[in-house]
Amino acid sequence: MSRSSDPSPGAGPSALDAEVVGWIKDAALGFDNQRHFRTIEDFSDVRLNPENLEYFETYRRLYYNDRFIPGQGTEAILDQLSRLGTHGRWLDLGAGTTTLLWSIPLMEIHSIDCCDLVVEALAVLARFGASEDVPPCYADVLHAHGRTPEHLHAMRRKLRRFLVFDGLSAWPEELASDRFDLITAFGVLSTAPDPEAYSTALEAAAAHLAPGGRAIGADWLRSVAFAESDEHDNSYLGRAQVLTAARRAGLRPLECSRQPIVDDPHYDAVLCWALEKPGSG
Ligand SMILES: C[S@@+](CC[C@H](N)C(=O)[O-])C[C@H]1O[C@@H](n2cnc3c(N)ncnc32)[C@H](O)[C@@H]1O
Repeated sequence: MSRSSDPSPGAGPSALDAEVVGWIKDAALGFDNQRHFRTIEDFSDVRLNPENLEYFETYRRLYYNDRFIPGQGTEAILDQLSRLGTHGRWLDLGAGTTTLLWSIPLMEIHSIDCCDLVVEALAVLARFGASEDVPPCYADVLHAHGRTPEHLHAMRRKLRRFLVFDGLSAWPEELASDRFDLITAFGVLSTAPDPEAYSTALEAAAAHLAPGGRAIGADWLRSVAFAESDEHDNSYLGRAQVLTAARRAGLRPLECSRQPIVDDPHYDAVLCWALEKPGSG
């Protein structure tokens, strides 16, 4: 993540800023993929919770708005996407508000579906997608990857469906026949409470990859202090866990590396991985 040191001009820091890490922890409680799954193409009639909306607006403003901050692991993710990202149908799992930033290094994407458990996160993403805004962080990444703002605007037009479901559980029946060439998961599998839940989530995603398709993701590893204060410890996570989960999901590891993060009170490192489903031939 590239949290900015200064909030956007005019926005001013708020008490909420300190708490926002992009994940409303209890959102999955009582959520049932078969009963509560929703596909949204137009948010105009969707009821939104103002607190959740403010939370995700704050997340977008704090983390992916002002100038790009190197050394947070984000460049490694973008680099991996530029080298190993595939073309075709893309689903971003636990999309939050950031899918379009991750789209910058990708080429020949036909359609973009975004999944999140929290509808307000997708609403903020959809609003940003409908705008022509190019925040400084996006401009920096466009420049670093030799792309123009037109590339970003073209990606905006590929946003297809916003899917509300729990990506850590068996996927909704409505998506049973959907297959994707690329499934990304940035900062979502690492919200799994334990290795078993992490492996189950990767297995569920792998079932929806087309032959030859790729899963690319990143897991932020929490500092001891943050794990204690937020009561979510993901210290079970490391290369060994990703490789074990990949084997169980039938995915071939292409890369898995640990990138240290400097000067961040929440995270010590980010684990970047790229996995491939064997082709049909
Ligand atoms: C740390 S944020 C990362 C957001 C975005 N991928 C990014 O790179 O900035 C984690 C996101 O995953 C979503 N999320 C958490 N648990 C989820 C679950 N079980 N299924 C789907 N999304 C989930 C959160 O609502 C949040 O938007």
